[in-house]
Amino acid sequence: MSIKQKSMSRTSKKHARRAGRLSEGILLSDSTPFHVREAYKALRTNVMFSIAGNEGKVIGVTSAVPGEGKSSTIINLAITFAEIGNKVILLDCDLRRPNLQRITDVEPGPGLAEVLARFVELDEVIQPSKYDKLDIIYSGDIPPNPAELLGSKNMEALIEELKERYDYVLIDTPPVNVVTDAVVLSRLIDGLILVTRENISRRDELLYAVNSLQFVNARLIGTVLNDKMFQTKRSYRYGRYKSYYSREYMDDRRD
Ligand SMILES: Nc1ncnc2c1ncn2[C@@H]1O[C@H](COP(=O)(O)OP(=O)(O)OP(=O)(O)O)[C@@H](O)[C@H]1O
Ligand SMILES: [Mg+2]
Repeated sequence: MSIKQKSMSRTSKKHARRAGRLSEGILLSDSTPFHVREAYKALRTNVMFSIAGNEGKVIGVTSAVPGEGKSSTIINLAITFAEIGNKVILLDCDLRRPNLQRITDVEPGPGLAEVLARFVELDEVIQPSKYDKLDIIYSGDIPPNPAELLGSKNMEALIEELKERYDYVLIDTPPVNVVTDAVVLSRLIDGLILVTRENISRRDELLYAVNSLQFVNARLIGTVLNDKMFQTKRSYRYGRYKSYYSREYMDDRRD
């Protein structure tokens, strides 16, 4: 083995260790604090009720700007949906800056982009996760035309196929104010959740995102406030607490 190869393998081991630590922190597990698990369960209940009326199955998550917690929210929501016996598929539709692969520490390979371009078959990219009843389709190689692929007839047909096979289809998307992909996808989504993050989200950016989504009649069902500071008896501290507001609540706040 050459020196270069040795140092590369060390780097990739380092990367794997880092990814492992990362996923341990983000993904729900037995060591996740009680209040965090409860927050996700509350989110699950609210989302289920919000889309139950129209027999919805497709749930999406987006945000105004990058880094507000879309990917961590949707994967943990997918885990909590699967935990109560639902057959769930999670799609990484952020074809530009895919995160789910890193969060779940999975090797890159063909994914959604390749299926939409008809390079591979759907069954070749559906990957079982370490969670019972939860499958994942990763984004695959970064394509030159993400918005066109996501807005294509192939994408529509893929979602229809997945709706037949699964109880719920969960979708991660890029931020609304940066690229048009989430707006394009919104017509396929029965319930769209807007993630905001304490100390990062700005009111004007959030309103801009809401307006863009309302303009295309996206079915916005509510927001998640991520990374909220909560009070314990002794002191304030930061945690992964997420709270959920219904769309009506947001409308009230905007008046
Ligand atoms: N509640 C939280 N507490 C601490 N760290 C968090 C929290 N939510 C997200 N993070 C961290 O913030 C970073 C961004 O989170 P995430 O990838 O979920 O956001 P995103 O909105 O999907 O980002 P992008 O727009 O780049 O796709 C990650 O490193 C994640 O671990
Ligand atoms: Mg993301």
